[in-house]
Amino acid sequence: MNALSGMSNLRLGVLASGRGSNLQAIIDAIDQRRLNAVLAVVISNKADAPALERARRCGTPAIFLDPKATSGREAYDGAILECLRKHDVELVVLAGYMKIVTPILLDAYSNRMMNIHPSLLPSFPGLAAQRQALEWGVKMAGCTVHFVTEGVDAGPIIRQATVPVYEDDTEESLSARILLEEHRLYPEAIQLYAENRLLVEGRRVRIR
Ligand code: GRF
Repeated sequence: MNALSGMSNLRLGVLASGRGSNLQAIIDAIDQRRLNAVLAVVISNKADAPALERARRCGTPAIFLDPKATSGREAYDGAILECLRKHDVELVVLAGYMKIVTPILLDAYSNRMMNIHPSLLPSFPGLAAQRQALEWGVKMAGCTVHFVTEGVDAGPIIRQATVPVYEDDTEESLSARILLEEHRLYPEAIQLYAENRLLVEGRRVRIR
């Protein structure tokens, strides 16, 4: 079974800018029926994003939308929104998407857009989270899946996973340890959404 023939009909739209290992984890989870969803479309702001190739390999529409073809961030998000709607996307999944999302998308997909971040939020939002964690000297690091709201990495937290930080860790070794957890956590969080088990109450997300 490929990612297009998932059992239930939660339709995912993934936005990705880079290598797409989290996208791959989602594709694999759908294939292995750990995630009851359909990968409806993958959109990237980078023409050469490996994530697009991963999508194509499993027969998913893989679309490059050039930010330079629209004037401004809102117009760009308008183009993304059109594409998401065209593919009947119900949940938007950010997977290494390196652009700020504007209210055009946020309002259309309020509490229907997730992101994964490689730190235990609210610590170390923004870029190079693993390096920030090492430099701060924390003993535990991890990753967070959260709903996307205005403000970078600031939305209600859905799930978190921790990993230890070792004395001899480098940014690369810590990132690799966290990434393994990301690949487990993200499909799990999406499955909770697919089962309609996430209830957002202010900043808190209850799991029913
Ligand atoms: C991941 O570390 C994710 O937490 C962050 O960007 C990275 C994307 O990696 N938001 P990949 O493209 O999914 O491999």
